[in-house]
Amino acid sequence: MDLGLETKRALVTGASKGLGKAVAGALRTEGAAVAICARDAGRVAAAAKDIGAVGLVGDLSIPGAAANIARQAIEKLGGVDILVVNTGGPPAGTFETTADEAWRRAFENLWMSTVDLIRGCLPGMRERRFGRIMIVTSMTAREPLAKLMISNALRPGIHGLVNALSREVAGDGITVNAIMPGYTLTERLRDIGIDEEKIAAQIPAGRLGRPEEFAALATFLASEQAGYICGQAIACDGGYLHAI
Ligand SMILES: NC(=O)c1ccc[n+]([C@@H]2O[C@H](COP(=O)([O-])OP(=O)(O)OC[C@H]3O[C@@H](n4cnc5c(N)ncnc54)[C@H](OP(=O)(O)O)[C@@H]3O)[C@@H](O)[C@H]2O)c1
Repeated sequence: MDLGLETKRALVTGASKGLGKAVAGALRTEGAAVAICARDAGRVAAAAKDIGAVGLVGDLSIPGAAANIARQAIEKLGGVDILVVNTGGPPAGTFETTADEAWRRAFENLWMSTVDLIRGCLPGMRERRFGRIMIVTSMTAREPLAKLMISNALRPGIHGLVNALSREVAGDGITVNAIMPGYTLTERLRDIGIDEEKIAAQIPAGRLGRPEEFAALATFLASEQAGYICGQAIACDGGYLHAI
C-alpha cells in the first residue's frame, strides 16, 4: 500500500531512542522528511544520522522549549504535515510520594509541550488543509496502573484534548489521535531490568511489544488513507487493556 508519505514532513519529538525513534525511522522509510528532538545532543546526532533525519535538541519540560522546537522544525523542513508528540515518561510514585515539583514538571513535560507543539504546527496544517497529529500516551490513560500517579492523573486529560481538538480541525483535513503503547521492549524497559517473563504472562499476546509494531500504527495513522480516523485513542498493547 502506498501511504502517500513521500511528500510529507514530520516532526517526532522524544525520538533519539525508543518508541519515538522507531516512529521517526518508519516515517523516513516511507519517504517522509523527518525532524527529531530530544535532550542529549550526542544521542540526537547519532539517531538523526542513523535515520536520515534533522536533529534538534531541546528539553520539553522547560517552558518555551516545545514552541521553539516546532519553529525550528518548520524552518528546517519547510513545514510540518505530521506531528508526533512523544516525551519521556513521568517519574513513578504514589500520591504520598509525589512532590509538588514533580507534578509541575510533568505538567510542562506532558501537557504544555503537547499544547505548544500543536499550536506551532496547526496554522500551516490548516493552510495546506492536511495534517496528522498523534500524541503518544500510555495504557495508564485508560486503566490506571499502581504507583504511576502522575501518568494516571495527567494522561487521560490528553485524551480529552485529542477528542475535542479533533472536532475543531477535522473539517480542515487534520486528524488528531492518541496512541497508547502497551509494554514495549525499548532500551528504557531493558535498562530498568523489568521481569519480562512476569509481564508477558499478564499480556494476552504472551509477549511484550516491539517498537516497530507501535511505529507501524503511527505510520498508518500518518497516511493519506487514515484521513477518516479522528479523535481516537488507539492501543498497541497485545490485548492488555480490558476497557472497551
Ligand atoms: N515502552 C513502554 O513500554 C511504554 C509503555 C507505556 C507508555 N510509554 C510511554 O511512551 C513514551 C516513550 O517511551 P520509551 O519507552 O520510548 O522511552 P525512552 O526509550 O526513554 O525514550 C524517550 C525519548 O524521549 C526523549 N526525552 C525524554 N525526556 C525528554 C524531554 N524532557 N524533552 C525532550 N525529549 C525527551 C529521550 O531522550 P533524552 O533522554 O536524551 O531526552 C528519548 O529519546 C514515554 O512517555 C513512556 O512513558 C512507554
